[in-house]
Amino acid sequence: MGTWRTSARRLLRKSPVAYRVVRRAEAAARAAVHAWREPPVRALPASLDEQAEWQEELYLLDDDPWNFERSPYEQGKYQHTLDVLTADGARYESALEVGCSIGVFTEMLAPHCGELVAVDISATAVERAEARVAGQPHVRVERMVLPNEMPGGTFDLVVCSDVLYYLEGPSLAKTVDAIAGTIRPGGALVVVSWLGTFGPMSGAELHATLRHLLPPSFRLDRSERRDVDGPQGIGYQLDVYRREPSAAADGDGS
Ligand SMILES: C[S@@+](CC[C@H](N)C(=O)[O-])C[C@H]1O[C@@H](n2cnc3c(N)ncnc32)[C@H](O)[C@@H]1O
Repeated sequence: MGTWRTSARRLLRKSPVAYRVVRRAEAAARAAVHAWREPPVRALPASLDEQAEWQEELYLLDDDPWNFERSPYEQGKYQHTLDVLTADGARYESALEVGCSIGVFTEMLAPHCGELVAVDISATAVERAEARVAGQPHVRVERMVLPNEMPGGTFDLVVCSDVLYYLEGPSLAKTVDAIAGTIRPGGALVVVSWLGTFGPMSGAELHATLRHLLPPSFRLDRSERRDVDGPQGIGYQLDVYRREPSAAADGDGS
């Protein structure tokens, strides 16, 4: 992508008019992406196929559509999440990150995991995440559409940061069920969500709903709300659920 762009730019610089036209088109595309990002400008796609197509378009138009690499809000959210996850030097034998995007948090989490599987619905995002964690054989990045696809195996940590509110009712229930089923007894589920409304439900509604959707063997261990300056001036919530260590015998179906 980078090489293609560099050569294209070199060619365009030879023709100032064409260069200006292309730069204007690029700026318009970027503005459209930013407008899309600002809820409630655009209703989210209904089906998972449309969702996949929409996310893919975002990543094709912008290398980092949510500015994860540079936004102080996103960086603060990642650091907060990491601090909570690694308190007291905690390490994870096997972790799953759902909706990993371009892998900014994946890279931060990787040193604290024996194995890390990171998945995203967008093939382009997956490519960028793979490049970011290249040379770390214990990290695997895959394109997957939850809940239709789920990585095999079990995990002692699953991270869902700003992803579950994209899913509407039945897909959300199916996803939560599938995720809960992969968490080992004693393992943790961390859900972080911007509290505004972008998807079928707000982040605040999602966090309230999760308390009912998760099987009884999951108890809320920690819940922190940060009223920091995120999109639209709204902050986020971070919830940590822990699966009871004796859950295998609970017969809760997970
Ligand atoms: C807003 S980004 C959040 C990225 C990162 N987790 C964070 O907190 O900054 C949401 C990501 O979830 C992915 N995503 C959305 N729906 C998904 C699904 N059904 N299955 C897998 N990934 C999905 C999108 O492609 C996007 O990269």
